[in-house]
Amino acid sequence: MIIAPSLLAANFGCFAKEAARVDRSGADWLHLDIMDGHFVENISFGPKVVQTLRPLVKIFFDVHLMCSRPEILLEPFARAGADQIDVHVELGEQVTPLLWKIKSLGKRAGLAINPPTAVSMVQPFLDQIDSLLVMTVNPGFGGQQFIHEALPKIQQAVDWRRQRGLSYNIGVDGGIDFKTAPECARVGADAFISGTTLFGQRNMKAAVSKLRRITAAYDPSLSDPAI
Ligand code: DX5
Ligand code: ZN
Repeated sequence: MIIAPSLLAANFGCFAKEAARVDRSGADWLHLDIMDGHFVENISFGPKVVQTLRPLVKIFFDVHLMCSRPEILLEPFARAGADQIDVHVELGEQVTPLLWKIKSLGKRAGLAINPPTAVSMVQPFLDQIDSLLVMTVNPGFGGQQFIHEALPKIQQAVDWRRQRGLSYNIGVDGGIDFKTAPECARVGADAFISGTTLFGQRNMKAAVSKLRRITAAYDPSLSDPAI
């Protein structure tokens, strides 16, 4: 299972310290939410922040672009040190060239889908992606309530992956805590993005371990599952 704290819930006054805290926590990815004030009603931070953090930590950088014009941001974020770049399926016909561009920059390509968007929208792109990010809140802000209606999308993504012999990760993003993460794991999610819950703990390492333990019970790659 992949555990990915989201920097959106960090103290914005000390990103370097917060990124180091994530690095030490044993998490797998640092999730970096990029918001442009247009695709979503909030603005977060840009490539300069990612570039500044890159040499300070070793952790994998997962850059989630909630932006109307991601095409102008792919190269800057790739240069800044992203390992994976996620774009939204709601961008329609731009999606294929965006995914192609991300791959051509040597990065893993992710595709995110918002709660109101039908899961069938991602179907044409599944063989082009390394990761599917099922939004479990409407993007824009941290600390929102988990939307349970997103769970069947995870199940569908698992079925398609098996039927088509693909291997993309299935991530969940928004409202992920110690109660909702196992619900997602049970239906097949394998990457857990969590901001408020993980940054809200004094001991992030213990919180990451706990999230790992309670989701691992559903990990199909473990030969002896605990359930
Ligand atoms: C939502 C972002 C999420 C957010 C999750 O727009 O994409 O990554 O940081 O935060 P929590 O875990 O607080 O819901
Ligand atoms: Zn995100």
